[in-house]
Amino acid sequence: MTRQSYARRGGRLLLGFVAKRPIHAIVQVSNRCNLTCGFCSFWENPARPADELTTADFETISGKLAEAGSLIVSIEGGEPTLRPDIVEIVGAFARFHHPIMFTNGLRITPELARRLWDAGLDTCGVSIDYPDARHDTHRGKAGTFEAARRALDVLRDTAPRGGRQVFVMSVLMHDNANAFPELLALSASHGVGHQVTMISTGGAGRHTRAQWIPHAGIGKRLLELKQRFPHFMTFSGYLEGIDAYLEGTTRTPCWAGERFLNIDHLGDVAPCIEKLELRVGNLLRDPWAVVSARLGALEEPKTCTDCWTSCRGFVEEMSGPPNLRSWREFFEDFTKQPKAART
Ligand SMILES: C[S@@+](CC[C@H](N)C(=O)[O-])C[C@H]1O[C@@H](n2cnc3c(N)ncnc32)[C@H](O)[C@@H]1O
Ligand code: SF4
Ligand code: SF4
Repeated sequence: MTRQSYARRGGRLLLGFVAKRPIHAIVQVSNRCNLTCGFCSFWENPARPADELTTADFETISGKLAEAGSLIVSIEGGEPTLRPDIVEIVGAFARFHHPIMFTNGLRITPELARRLWDAGLDTCGVSIDYPDARHDTHRGKAGTFEAARRALDVLRDTAPRGGRQVFVMSVLMHDNANAFPELLALSASHGVGHQVTMISTGGAGRHTRAQWIPHAGIGKRLLELKQRFPHFMTFSGYLEGIDAYLEGTTRTPCWAGERFLNIDHLGDVAPCIEKLELRVGNLLRDPWAVVSARLGALEEPKTCTDCWTSCRGFVEEMSGPPNLRSWREFFEDFTKQPKAART
């Protein structure tokens, strides 16, 4: 079957915003990883390769998700580029959705990058958490910082719309909070965008071995940096919510389960990446209608304030009464998407 046109997928995503339907799914395409980062424990819980989902399974999942609409699908892991069929997986999601991939950058080559863009990848985030060799210490392997920087260049140079489709993703933590001017200068020097997410310290996929949340006040400083660095794409509203979270006054409801969801490396569905234990079904075995009804019936997420990750913040900015500033910030980025993906 052919890919839905970019305009059709964009229109369906827009409808999802307005009709308060699901708009974002995170998918762990494999828990395997080539790094051992201090704040992550997905890599400690890999499936045997024989038990991992197949390319056809991802096609099924993409099709079932399409019953909900055209979603932004974050392809993550583990390290997604360890999947030999990552190009086909991206293609499976691009048929109905808007795939974004997150990578540590180690395995990005010009050939792989070109194939990923050709398959319909919308944007790609490369993780960099420190503007120097501390990144290597934190990620558990020498050379990771330079590899991530190389990946930025390769992805930018191969992307149909260049650096607009590539961004650095930095996790905000106690020991890099002061490094954001340097981190933003680094991404600017590569000609790519930049996004930030608050460290999450709970959940089966998370660890707090060496990093924890920063002090309140950093949200205000990041807002000031957003004025100085136009390529800093993270929503202003999300940045404003950072200090509220750090002061213990996070707003509710959280829309996990209703407007965003997590699909793990075996196809199990949970409301968010932090609450994998709130499993409501499996998207290979169960119909979307059943999974969706169970997600909507979950009470715990509605009042939960356990995290302030950007996936939570993004959906909140695009939910509730229309927030014109967030919509403008979103469409400024969204309309920069590649012509090549508009099939
Ligand atoms: C789990 S990783 C998977 C993709 C890829 N391996 C990578 O590192 O980019 C997806 C994103 O989550 C971030 N991350 C890892 N642990 C986190 C935590 N405890 N809280 C918030 N984000 C985290 C990573 O830095 C990365 O940007
Ligand atoms: S954050 Fe990414 S690179 Fe680091 S261990 Fe987790 S999955 Fe691997
Ligand atoms: S606040 Fe929402 S996204 Fe975060 S852990 Fe709770 S339910 Fe999940």
